[in-house]
Amino acid sequence: MIDAAAGTSTASLPDRSVVPPVWGRITNLVVDHGQGSWLVTMDGERYLDYSSGIGVTNTGHAHPRVAAAVAAQAAKLLHGQQNIMYHEAGLRLYDRLAHVLPGEGWGAFLSNSGAEAVEAAVKLARVATGRPVIIGFRYGYHGRTAQTMALTTAKDVYRGHFEPLPGSVYHTAYPYCYRAAGGAHPIDACTCDWEAELDLTFHQFVYPEHVAAIIVEPVLGEGGYLVPPPGFLPRLREITRRHGILLIADEVQTGFGRTGRFFAVEHWGVEPDILVMAKGIASGLPLSGIIAKRETLDRLPPGSHGGTYGGNVVACAAANATLDVIRDEGLVENARARGDQFLLGLRRIAARYPSVGDVRGLGLMLALEFVRPGEGDGRTPNPEVTKRVQAEALARRLIVLTAGTYVNVVRIIPPLVTTAAEVDLALSILDESLAAAGA
Ligand SMILES: Cc1ncc(COP(=O)(O)O)c(C=O)c1O
Repeated sequence: MIDAAAGTSTASLPDRSVVPPVWGRITNLVVDHGQGSWLVTMDGERYLDYSSGIGVTNTGHAHPRVAAAVAAQAAKLLHGQQNIMYHEAGLRLYDRLAHVLPGEGWGAFLSNSGAEAVEAAVKLARVATGRPVIIGFRYGYHGRTAQTMALTTAKDVYRGHFEPLPGSVYHTAYPYCYRAAGGAHPIDACTCDWEAELDLTFHQFVYPEHVAAIIVEPVLGEGGYLVPPPGFLPRLREITRRHGILLIADEVQTGFGRTGRFFAVEHWGVEPDILVMAKGIASGLPLSGIIAKRETLDRLPPGSHGGTYGGNVVACAAANATLDVIRDEGLVENARARGDQFLLGLRRIAARYPSVGDVRGLGLMLALEFVRPGEGDGRTPNPEVTKRVQAEALARRLIVLTAGTYVNVVRIIPPLVTTAAEVDLALSILDESLAAAGA
């Protein structure tokens, strides 16, 4: 149990049961350190981390430039509370974030977690429009605070134990092309009738003129890694504009290069009113925020939102270094190239396994959906095979996550620094894992 290089041992650690079970966990690894796409346990085993800590370590684990920026900032100032002072790292970051979307007049607000930033977006939308209602999408995930649970429908466990939840929240259909009525279709020929469902929502639940905002994940994450058909976001933008409804793009999982664009909305040329960001923004330090036009953002009165740690100075230093790395190392372009390589490879492999119902992805946000071939219409979810594939991959030292309401999707979230050789290695491990899992 001793790693000769690190000189560390798991034998001296407290029992793992000190951590409460609410932290459901997919491995029992005790990790000593990470580097690039790899995690190294205290026993010296190396794992290819294609979870990226749930889509966070876009620059890879412990990128030297990010680590150096954190260390330098920590030695100077650890906490520079935003209600009390300005700090250089924060001022730089606010200024940079005001220029990451096309056009002028943007501003940012910084907080800690994705859920907290979604809360900010909801509060801003209500204040700015004077309207009460928020509409979310079925399968969507926005966090686990009270307000964000109310918006989340990805899976029962995220909200099922916690009624009553905040009201004036309604849900409408996301275009889940593989599960469109009448059979599975490629997304270009998708028959999803999300627009008719939204119209029904307006006629059955809530007048559109009472709706402050519609919140959408441009590529839907926890609920199944769903890539929408090409017309979806542009049409949603038209509909929201027509009714004076703000469009909130939740880019917590899709942002900072993940899908092969800096933000996923760029794939469809859509300008949201509020963009929510977290995860990839600071390579692992807790930081989140929203971007909106200043004329909207400034409608939040002083003191109406915030928090003790929001926009922490060390996290801001990490974010500035992260933005530098993404630019200097061409990580958005690499996400596109490695994503294309991965999707092609997955399609080639999947054709040999009857349990793979769908292969999809955008950039380095990739998924395999598992079904029971020959049962019903051939699209019955197959969580058992999904779990086995994940376990077989882990046994071969590849970490991948699951997703989907029925937990029948394997999702693959490599760091954006990953190499062509690592993608090939992951593909061959997945091929073996599918075979071993009887997929
Ligand atoms: C799209 C989306 N929104 C919000 C959140 C919540 O972020 P956090 O876990 O940082 O609160 C997540 C987390 O997975 C997410 O994927």
